[in-house]
Amino acid sequence: MKFRAVKGMNDTLPADVGRWQYLEATFRRAAQLAGFSEVRTPHMEQTELFVRSIGTETDVVQKEMYTFERGRHSLTLRPEGTASAARAYVQHKVFSKEPVTRWYYIGPMFRAENVQRGRLRQFHQAGCEVFGDAGPASDAELIQLLYAWFTELGIGDLEVCVGTIGNAESKARYRDALVAFLEPHAAELSETSQRRLETNPLRILDSKAPQDQELVAGAPSILEHLTDEDREHWEELLSQLDALGLPYRIDPGLVRGLDYYSRTLFELKSNAGELGAQNTLAGGGRYDAMVESMGGPAIPAIGFAIGLERVLLAMPERDVAREPLCVVAPVGAAAIREGLIVARELREHGICVEVDGRGNSLKSMLRRANSLGARMCLLIGESELERSVVQLKDLEQRGQEDVPRKDIASRVAERLAQPLAPGGEPNNTPTNVSGAPS
Ligand code: HAM
Repeated sequence: MKFRAVKGMNDTLPADVGRWQYLEATFRRAAQLAGFSEVRTPHMEQTELFVRSIGTETDVVQKEMYTFERGRHSLTLRPEGTASAARAYVQHKVFSKEPVTRWYYIGPMFRAENVQRGRLRQFHQAGCEVFGDAGPASDAELIQLLYAWFTELGIGDLEVCVGTIGNAESKARYRDALVAFLEPHAAELSETSQRRLETNPLRILDSKAPQDQELVAGAPSILEHLTDEDREHWEELLSQLDALGLPYRIDPGLVRGLDYYSRTLFELKSNAGELGAQNTLAGGGRYDAMVESMGGPAIPAIGFAIGLERVLLAMPERDVAREPLCVVAPVGAAAIREGLIVARELREHGICVEVDGRGNSLKSMLRRANSLGARMCLLIGESELERSVVQLKDLEQRGQEDVPRKDIASRVAERLAQPLAPGGEPNNTPTNVSGAPS
């Protein structure tokens, strides 16, 4: 039987891992530059945590969660990171230790969605969450952080969409206005939206059904139903984005797919690179009521999450520098034993090295060293053992030398420290080492 990875859950092989590590390293740096510290939460939580925070009427909860029963417990693989971060924040009473908390995370999330380009079932998010700052400066800072990081990655064609849905009172006012507008057309709505008209009308704004979208296009705007406080927050945010010189588009219809939001919402999109229809790179917003709803004090919060697979599709190709590698190529059992000791010494000097202990011919070991892109090959045969030397073959700068065995680590380090001669090409000619099977 041949096994394959589960559909929508991909392997990342070493050839691609460099790009992931680059993303992770630059994101960590961007987050740390803005005062965020990393938090790590379990990949699985009680199902109820997601149902209550994300909302029973959302697609994520209704269709996309990987949920299973274990004994008396219902568990779910996390579909996103915000609910877990808020749960950890409340559980560890972080609010009693610091007035403002800035956390970031990077990790896999799981949603049983229809798989397409940029939409997977196990995908990876990098996210930031701020607890304890009612903002709008933290809203602006998060949007700026995202914009700066995408720009650093070389992603062009960026669009920043901002919107608001206000806090509870504005939402209630808007909900009434929306229902009054949609009710006369209820029969024209999709089946799901007809139900949501009763249960959660704001979700209809996020419907993908064409007949719903057509109706919603003429719906009243939330911006006309904001309370004074919500309007103040919204207008100050826009002034701050203006002060930062950050280009944005106001999208009054932005609701996003999760129910926990209040006030500010934002998404960053791009049509760069190989992104297809799934062109939202990141999304986020305020969720001022979540901490209290989880049994904590009334502490405001805001955050975002970035889809890293989408970022990889959008960003230009880049060469990821690898540390130079040395290959020890010993011929014969005694040379292999010596080679293991040489490799240990090199590693103690911080040099990357692997031993080719397969017992193959010198030619084949050199061929492999070249195909690995190794910088140097250290040949040890019978004669080298007798003379207490190692034959150092520089695959990039051509040339070779016999180095006294005791000096090999420092000689390799010395060569690695020298700048490469321009146009240095790998040297493929096999060298003669005594005892080498030809
Ligand atoms: P979200 O909009 O559901 O928000 O997801 C954020 C980003 O994750 C999306 O913009 C997209 O790039 C990526 N993403 C989502 N689903 C998939 C998928 N199936 N395949 C590939 N990428 C995907 C959240 O998750 C919120 N927790 C964001 C947030 C943080 N709000 C406040 N704090």
